Amino acid sequence: MQDVAAKQGPLAHERLIIRRGARSGVTLMVAVHSTALGPAVGGCRMRAYRCWQDALADVLRLSQAMSYKCAAAGLAYGGGKTVIALDEGIDLARIDRRSVLLDVGDLVAEFDGRYSTGPDVGTCAQDMIVVRQRTPHAFCLPESHGGSGSPALPTAIGVLAALRTVSVHRFGTQSLAGRRIAVSGLGAVGERLARSLTEQGAKLTVSDVDDQKRALAKELGATWVEPAQAITTDTEILVPAAVGQILDHEVVPRLRCAAIVGPANNQLVTDDVADVLRQRDILWAPDFVANAGGVIYALAREVEGIGHGEAIERVHHIGTALAEILTNADRAGQTTLATATDLAATRLRTAP
Ligand code: PHE
Repeated sequence: MQDVAAKQGPLAHERLIIRRGARSGVTLMVAVHSTALGPAVGGCRMRAYRCWQDALADVLRLSQAMSYKCAAAGLAYGGGKTVIALDEGIDLARIDRRSVLLDVGDLVAEFDGRYSTGPDVGTCAQDMIVVRQRTPHAFCLPESHGGSGSPALPTAIGVLAALRTVSVHRFGTQSLAGRRIAVSGLGAVGERLARSLTEQGAKLTVSDVDDQKRALAKELGATWVEPAQAITTDTEILVPAAVGQILDHEVVPRLRCAAIVGPANNQLVTDDVADVLRQRDILWAPDFVANAGGVIYALAREVEGIGHGEAIERVHHIGTALAEILTNADRAGQTTLATATDLAATRLRTAP
């Protein structure tokens, strides 16, 4: 059993279901990477993909990241993910959202509690009300419906804790005042981060694929750059807050930052990119450690019944957990990815 639980790599998943939704006709995928530590959790992502193979790669990667996220955070949960794979160029207004979400609910129901979903890129707390009509296994419904609400705020709070840790490690101070920070992606989490960082006196550069977000940049007095320029912008801390797969061997040599920490999942295209970041002395906070705030908060509130304040306290622990990983990586002379992965993999391997 132990060996099965410890299996790593692209073929490590326990279960994968791909289907066309009966009501919607839309391609749906649920991957459960591991239930070694407990039932799997992971959000429901809705976005367009070039082809179904891209969607499949995404759901496999994202569900594995959830296993590592839960393990590194010390949660007794495993990793899974749902992908709603839309055709590229599709007009979102033409999609019958309710049908899609009911189809997702039926699919999640088949896992019989071994996997629970929640909001992710492209879905929100309101959407989970619809999913809940077909299965009890959906987290983060609005508080008015008995859930813990959108995970965006706790996710942002966790990333801010990680940012302070990175700042101490790299610049010798917790304070982000006057620090040059670039936030790439102004969605639910990115916008909260940008607002909070502005309040803390950071000098912000921001970017989003949606040109209308320029208004937010203006409101915050932030510099706007085009999405294509955001990653390589001249800054001290880069905050990837859009979709992942942004750091590869082509882009890393062109980076002009000292540290990277953000909520985007799966930021590295391949694991060996972590070596290049280290060679370039760019401090990278492992994404699955920095962005665990949403899942930590939702589970604390909805499974353990803990109050808001105490659940947020737990999210703050991300800062200390990351500090330990950064110190241990330095001491071992290895990448932060290797240290964080070792920690998570050990927990998965030695699951009770
Ligand atoms: N979508 C977020 C994540 O993948 C948060 C989340 C997912 C929260 C599932 C609760 C349940 O980490």
